[in-house]
Amino acid sequence: MKKFAVAATFAAALMGTTAIHATELEVTHWWTSGGEAAAVAEFARAFEEAGYTWIDGAIAGGGGTARPVMISRITGGDPMGATQFNHGRQAEELVEAGLMLDLTEVAEAEGWRDFIHPTSLLDSCTLDGRIYCVPVNIHSWQWLWLSHKAFEDAGVPVPTNWDEFAAAAPALEAAGKIPLAMGNQPWQSSGAFGVLAIAIAGSEAWEAVNIDKNADVAGGEEYARVFEAAAAAREFRKNSNVQDWNQATNMVITGQAGGQIMGDWAQGEFQVAGQVAGEDYSCLPGLGVNEIISTGGDAFYFPKLNDPEKEAAQLALASLMVSPEVQVAFNLKKGSLPIRGDVDLEAANDCMKKGLEILAGGNILPDGNQTLSPDTQGQIEDLMTEFWSSDSISAEDAQRRYAAIIAQAD
Ligand code: BGC
Repeated sequence: MKKFAVAATFAAALMGTTAIHATELEVTHWWTSGGEAAAVAEFARAFEEAGYTWIDGAIAGGGGTARPVMISRITGGDPMGATQFNHGRQAEELVEAGLMLDLTEVAEAEGWRDFIHPTSLLDSCTLDGRIYCVPVNIHSWQWLWLSHKAFEDAGVPVPTNWDEFAAAAPALEAAGKIPLAMGNQPWQSSGAFGVLAIAIAGSEAWEAVNIDKNADVAGGEEYARVFEAAAAAREFRKNSNVQDWNQATNMVITGQAGGQIMGDWAQGEFQVAGQVAGEDYSCLPGLGVNEIISTGGDAFYFPKLNDPEKEAAQLALASLMVSPEVQVAFNLKKGSLPIRGDVDLEAANDCMKKGLEILAGGNILPDGNQTLSPDTQGQIEDLMTEFWSSDSISAEDAQRRYAAIIAQAD
């Protein structure tokens, strides 16, 4: 609460008013699964303890459904008090249009640049030297979550890498299991493809495609192997007839499916189900092939409300979101890594510890949301939806179309 006191004083001085408590702030986000709800409740609790009122604006259906709603409310003159976006470029146009509150003064007063790590998180919040968002976590996509029960039932050892997983798929099928659980939303198949790309083509090829937008690499040899692996994975996920990511995680938790490629937010679900990493499930960073994590995740933006009382509450919320106590409480439930290295994560489970080690070793890549525009991301998602849902597009055709998107990417 010390941090909050600093922010409240700061905000009060800034606004030339006294800090007014019980101010209501509507906060929108797409955290509706069991683990996500438990984590966001930590933000709400801290905000309420500081004397404000948190109006929860959860939007079901995942980020792909929530973001258009958030954006149209902000551009349509019905802004919320705070809203989640992923690290990167999703709110770029809103910031450019001058619709977001400038957090630079509070960020400088509290020294955000000194403790937020990696600095790319704050860079993603920065436009023309001004800071417009507060990073709250590091989430990485590069994980394969494995059900010990499913492999035991199938009589094969729990795999230690993607090749072993692929080799075990027939045994899982013979035991009536779905080898790979995957929900049917575009961001899920697109995300899984990105994970396969980093694991199989390697970081350099991934950077060439996603940062330099090199269409030759996208259409070349290394990516051909990624598309082949994705075509195999498409078979493994065939009977995985669920929509939401957490329904797919539940199939792993209950042993109906062998594994799921999903970001580390899946940890929140295992936790809520009372499962123990290393006993009930395993996690393979970089699919056990290339131990690397991308530093994506979530940031909060504060739309301009032109209301000094609300603005003080917005600054107070921004400040407490990065405070050490809230960082620990939130991230332990969320399954994400904190944005500051100076906090105590003793209670982290085995999988989080692996993530922390990889982060400390500097084996990191940016997230696709930081390197590609929302428009390019959308085109890739469309292609991936088509590719993963039907055998009618071959790996070669999909790769040709992918390379054409990269050639035009911004
Ligand atoms: C967010 C996570 C969230 C996940 C699934 C990602 O875009 O970064 O915080 O848990 O979506 O909802």
